[in-house]
Parts: sequence; structure tokens; C-alpha cells
Amino acid sequence: MNVLITGGAGFIGSHVADHLLVMGCRVHVLDNFHSNYSREQKLLNIRSSLNHSAYHLHEGDIRDATALANLFRQYPFDVVIHLAALPGVQASLQHPDAYTDVNINGTRTLLHTMHQFGVRKLIFGSSSSVYGDSPAMPLQENSQQLFPISPYALTKYKGEQLCRHYSQQYGIDITCLRFFTAYGPRQRPDMAIYQFLEAIRQQRPLSIYGKGTSRDYTFVADIVQGISKAMLRVNGFAIYNIGSGCCISLRQLITTMERVTNQKALIIQKPDRPGDVAHTWADLTQSKQKLDYQPTTSLSDGLQQMADWLSSRSTYANLSFVG
Ligand SMILES: NC(=O)c1ccc[n+]([C@@H]2O[C@H](COP(=O)([O-])OP(=O)(O)OC[C@H]3O[C@@H](n4cnc5c(N)ncnc54)[C@H](O)[C@@H]3O)[C@@H](O)[C@H]2O)c1
Repeated sequence: MNVLITGGAGFIGSHVADHLLVMGCRVHVLDNFHSNYSREQKLLNIRSSLNHSAYHLHEGDIRDATALANLFRQYPFDVVIHLAALPGVQASLQHPDAYTDVNINGTRTLLHTMHQFGVRKLIFGSSSSVYGDSPAMPLQENSQQLFPISPYALTKYKGEQLCRHYSQQYGIDITCLRFFTAYGPRQRPDMAIYQFLEAIRQQRPLSIYGKGTSRDYTFVADIVQGISKAMLRVNGFAIYNIGSGCCISLRQLITTMERVTNQKALIIQKPDRPGDVAHTWADLTQSKQKLDYQPTTSLSDGLQQMADWLSSRSTYANLSFVG
């Protein structure tokens, strides 16, 4: 199977690529190495795959229709996993136009190219943020109460609508997966878990915004499981939650990090930030039934793996500095 992963040098995409190579797929990654974080980290993400004979890296932009057409002309893709995006709520408040351009226009360009070249299957990386501050918990895919409260969330909501349109009008089979806060090795450095763990490990103060918030935190291997199972079952148009099914308070998260690192957190409490929702919690009934999705990694195991990854990176950085 020939798979195109857009955004495949990023956090989630690089894990998906690793997994699909093990499954025996031919993997093509399209990524423009956007400067949302360092090119070096993205190159490290794909370092192990780069030498694999079934792995092909294409540096390019999903908004570039000509480059996309050339790529699709050259390779007969069976399925596209669309993860390229500008992610993150807070940066979207600073750069709403850039988010609209990449996440909406880029998605439209990709869908149009798929239609032109007759590629029939797509998995779209959507987000729990589309629910916004929905009052109904746990969050269900068929909820009519979607209240996106950030430019990022709006772009993901619009991306789902574009997918629905292309599926209904042009018969492309599309599954949108709403990921709930992914974490694990290779996580983006702007994300809270990365910043909290680094602060605790280095005994620096960490800022916590808002009181009483809670999240459904999903280990990246479970996200990958959801994507690969959806990829094998994509049919018609569907939307599924991909989460852990657990709702963890900020206090519980920090306590678990303290246990895993064996260090105390130095907390600075700050007020709520605009754009951040108060609570997320995935209802997994549909994804379990229809995708056979089953998250398996507990928060403490996942945080342990992430802390080990952060330690190995600093050891590596220290060694290369000394060397
Ligand atoms: N990480 C999470 O918790 C989370 C939660 C919900 C949804 N998502 C979605 O999952 C996807 C992957 O997220 P991630 O955390 O791995 O982010 P990431 O930033 O690590 O990966 C995204 C990749 O897309 C690439 N990219 C950006 N603009 C591009 C463009 N115009 N053309 C080609 N490539 C481009 C980036 O260089 C990056 O490598 C995104 O669509 C994100 O919105 C992530």
C-alpha cells in the first residue's frame, strides 16, 4: 500500500510513518519543515525512517498546487493521511491568517488534488478543540453543540466541513479523527506536557493557566493505533474521537509527573488564557465499535516514556557538546 503522510516529519506524523513501515507500507512524507519548532527536531523525528528503502521524504508545501500535482502524478497513492497543519491554540491567536491559509486553504488544495488524480481515501487529523466549551461530557462525535473558541479550532472545524463536502460531492472516502491532546516522545515543544516535564526535571518554575481545568491526554502510540485502524476501514464519511477516555485534572497531571520524575513541581498560578477550553473528555463508544480502537497506555506509563525520551535527548545533547 502506497501511503502519503502530510506533516509526516512532525510529532504524530513521524510515529505514524514508523508504524506504517513496520506494517509493510510504502511511505511518502510531504512536509515543509515549518518553523513552528526546529528543523533539527523534525529531522531527529524521521532519522530512523530515512534509511528505510520504503520511505520517501518530499520537502514541500500542501498549499503548492503544482508541487502536489507533480507528486500525485509520480506516485499512485492508495490513501492520504493528512496531518500537515499549523497546530496549537495559543499561536493561532497571534497568527490567525497563517492558520487559515495552511489549515483551510492547504486542506482544500490537497482535497482538490486528490479529486483530480482519483485518490479515493483520506484520514484527516482533526482535533478535540472543535468541541470548544461544550457543556455535554463526555464529548460525542454526533454532538450538535460545537463551539470552537480559537482560530485553530475554527480551522479544524472548517477542515472537517471541507472533508464532508469532498466526500459527498466527489465520493472520496474520508475519516476525520478528533485527537485529544497527544503526548509522548517527540512531542512539540510548545505543548504543556513537554514544558511542564522539562520545567520539573530542571527544577524551574512552571506556569499553570486557569484553575480546575482537565484534559483527556492520549499517548501517541494510541493515536497511531487509531490512525492505522481508521486507514484500513475508511469508507464513506465519518468522524471519530481518538482519546484515552479518561479525564485528568491539572492537579492529577502534575502529581503524576512529580511521581515519574521523582521531583517536586514549582508552580506559578496564572489566570485563564483566552482560547483554552476548560475540559476535554472523549466518548470512545463509536471509535471502539467501528474502528476497533482501544487505547492501552496509562498516563503514568506514557509520562514515564516521555520523561525517558527527554532525558535521552539531554544526554545526547550533552555528549555532542562535550564531543
Ligand atoms: N498534538 C496534538 O495534541 C494534536 C491534537 C489534535 C490535533 N492535532 C493535529 O494533528 C496533526 C499533527 O500535529 P502534531 O502535534 O504532530 O504537529 P507538528 O507540528 O509536530 O506536525 C505538523 C507537521 O506539519 C508540517 N507542516 C506545517 N505546515 C505545512 C505545510 N504548509 N505544508 C507541509 N507541511 C506542513 C510541519 O512542518 C510539521 O512537521 C495536526 O494537524 C494537528 O492539528 C494534534
